Amino acid sequence: GPVQPPDLSMCILATDSQADDEPVNCCPPYSTSNIVDFVLPPDAPLRHRKPAHKLSPKEIERFKVAIAKMKQLDPKDPWNFMQQATIHCTFCNGAFFQVNYPDKLLQVHATWLFAPWHRYYLYFWERILGKLIDDPTFAIPYWNWDVPDGMFIPSFYLDNSSPLYNDKRNHDHYKALMDFDYKNEPTPTPNPTPDQYKDVINKNLQKVENLFNKDNLNKPDLFMGAPVSAGEFVEVRGALEELHNLAHEWVGPVAKPNHDMGNFYTAARDTLFWAHHGNVDRLWDFYQKKRMYKPESNLADYLEASFIFYDENRQVVKVKVSDCLRAEDLGYTYAPEEFPWQGIRR
Ligand code: C2O
Repeated sequence: GPVQPPDLSMCILATDSQADDEPVNCCPPYSTSNIVDFVLPPDAPLRHRKPAHKLSPKEIERFKVAIAKMKQLDPKDPWNFMQQATIHCTFCNGAFFQVNYPDKLLQVHATWLFAPWHRYYLYFWERILGKLIDDPTFAIPYWNWDVPDGMFIPSFYLDNSSPLYNDKRNHDHYKALMDFDYKNEPTPTPNPTPDQYKDVINKNLQKVENLFNKDNLNKPDLFMGAPVSAGEFVEVRGALEELHNLAHEWVGPVAKPNHDMGNFYTAARDTLFWAHHGNVDRLWDFYQKKRMYKPESNLADYLEASFIFYDENRQVVKVKVSDCLRAEDLGYTYAPEEFPWQGIRR
């Protein structure tokens, strides 16, 4: 059967695999059996997610205000910035066993649940932020690392007086062009120098284009990650997740335990995480459009797989994969944009 949401009353200590399995408490600050089924948002003007590097000063300001408010909430409030970040640890570092399978941890990464789960994660985060600033059209920016101008950390995330700032990053990468071949171990790849930029950009673009090769388009497992059903523990990343790891490593510090972005347990504490995943979600959206929205699988184990989130109305909702297969149905879209990697020559 499909993977089910956890029993909230059964939370256990999660573990940080990058710090010798140190136990970490990633349990949600609530436990309730009052869980309602998610319904798609009513028709309303779409939220337009824009590339971070093209945000206007006014848009940056609004985003900063929303994040500041989220950080100022009571630390136990499920909307609190840190609580929102901890959700990533909950479903990534093993804070729950699967219902009825007391030896199989609930894990949304490295399976076909990767893209849907993160889509919902961002969806609720965006709506909560919108609520906090009373703006029903608020949209989160995305880190547009698949265009040359976007292959740097968007500058306003580097302003250390901003609520968007996080110091736990690799400072050597603050002004560097991303190299999609970067590996932070064992010896970090050196940053590209400006005279290498052209080649690195070209190679980066090819890597993005390659995500949408024929095989990946025809075999969603290759793009999304391997199928997983209730009671299974699978770890086979798809091409999208594989490429996505790069930005985590690029932003996170070289030294273990790589907090924040370089470690699943802490990644979402960095506002860049959300911008990064905006782009990941956008590439999934592109993939879905390319496939004319043919579901990645028609199996109930995909379509009926479900998660829980604490929503923008302070209700715990149960969401299922089948409801998130069109971004527009969820009330947002990606602003008009370019895909310069399309058809790029090798
Ligand atoms: Cu849940 Cu970027 O990983």
